[in-house]
Amino acid sequence: MKLFVYSSAVLLISISTSSLAASAFAGKAKAAAVCSQCHGITSPSAEAPFPLLAGRDELYLEKALKQYRNKTRLSEVMNNIAAGLSDRDINNIAEYYSRLKP
Ligand code: HEC
Repeated sequence: MKLFVYSSAVLLISISTSSLAASAFAGKAKAAAVCSQCHGITSPSAEAPFPLLAGRDELYLEKALKQYRNKTRLSEVMNNIAAGLSDRDINNIAEYYSRLKP
């Protein structure tokens, strides 16, 4: 609950300061529905060694997701997940996670 309140506050700040907020909002929904199961929102699940996404460089996240999607970076799990993402999804999710504080 604390984490949820915190990430909502971050999102509200981004809505008031950026015209790109709509995409961060879409990214948030996707992250909450899919990615957070393994990567968490502000920190990955403690039981498994998933890489942290919160606060990472936006372009790095975009690049990694596109590489998973076109299979130039291999991971059974991430190749399957990225296959279902559009460019817009990737941009939204990368923007959302990059704005969070880990
Ligand atoms: C079922 C668990 C699972 C889910 C759900 C999942 N991931 Fe991953 N993710 C992983 C694993 C495992 C790795 C490490 C793969 C590797 O070694 O390259 C990873 C790696 C990544 C990386 C690379 C991080 C780095 O440091 O290079 C990114 C970016 C990423 N995931 C984004 C996402 C996004 C965005 C979503 C939601 C659309 C998502 N993941 C959903 C398990 C998951």
